[in-house]
Amino acid sequence: MSAPARTYPWASHFGGRAVTFRFMRPEDKELFKKFIRSLPRKDNFYLLLDVHNDQAIDSWMKRVESGHIQSVIALENDEIIGYCNLHTNELPWMRHVGEIRMSVSGTHRGRGLGRTLANEIFVLARARGLKKICARMTASQEAAQKIFSSLGFRAEALLSDFVKNENGLTEDLVIMSYDAGEIWGL
Ligand SMILES: CC(C)(COP(=O)(O)OP(=O)(O)OC[C@H]1O[C@@H](n2cnc3c(N)ncnc32)[C@H](O)[C@@H]1OP(=O)(O)O)[C@@H](O)C(=O)NCCC(=O)NCCS
Repeated sequence: MSAPARTYPWASHFGGRAVTFRFMRPEDKELFKKFIRSLPRKDNFYLLLDVHNDQAIDSWMKRVESGHIQSVIALENDEIIGYCNLHTNELPWMRHVGEIRMSVSGTHRGRGLGRTLANEIFVLARARGLKKICARMTASQEAAQKIFSSLGFRAEALLSDFVKNENGLTEDLVIMSYDAGEIWGL
């Protein structure tokens, strides 16, 4: 049994700077758009949408509102500096699966924020009873692989040349997953 999810919002210091963690709300749309569009393209290669498309962001926010995306954001001075999402859907054959996606802005990396955000969402995913939790990332996104490995995920698939960068060069995509067990009992 996993630890119970904590009460939000909560705050802590990372590298001596105060950071607040809370759930994303639909009204955070503009704040989130600013954050996600400020990231270099390569940081978003694991996403399944174009962050520069307003309609894609709108439908993302609708999924936040409906609960199909549960998102914890990290804020410094009311600006988003990182987020971690849990994506689920109600298709009968996939209702036991969740996918985690996350990013921390370049200037705030290496202070433990990514690890903290991933841990928050992982605890929520476990508390919701999800049996299979996965994450996708390019092979070069090593920090993410380190974080997910330490949560107990293992590399389950490698899709060669699956991602093409802005220079036309391809990269492999890694899918990592965590099996919570009792998958057949649902
Ligand atoms: C993954 C990401 C969120 C991590 O954020 P972060 O705030 O820097 O993470 P942390 O500070 O908690 O560091 C996590 C670990 O990664 C390690 N790390 C950081 N950069 C690294 C790199 N380039 N290569 C290998 N390890 C790295 C850190 O040393 C740390 O490990 P440790 O705790 O054992 O020392 C951030 O790098 C990011 O946004 N990357 C681009 C998007 C991405 O890859 N998303 C994942 C897709 S699901």
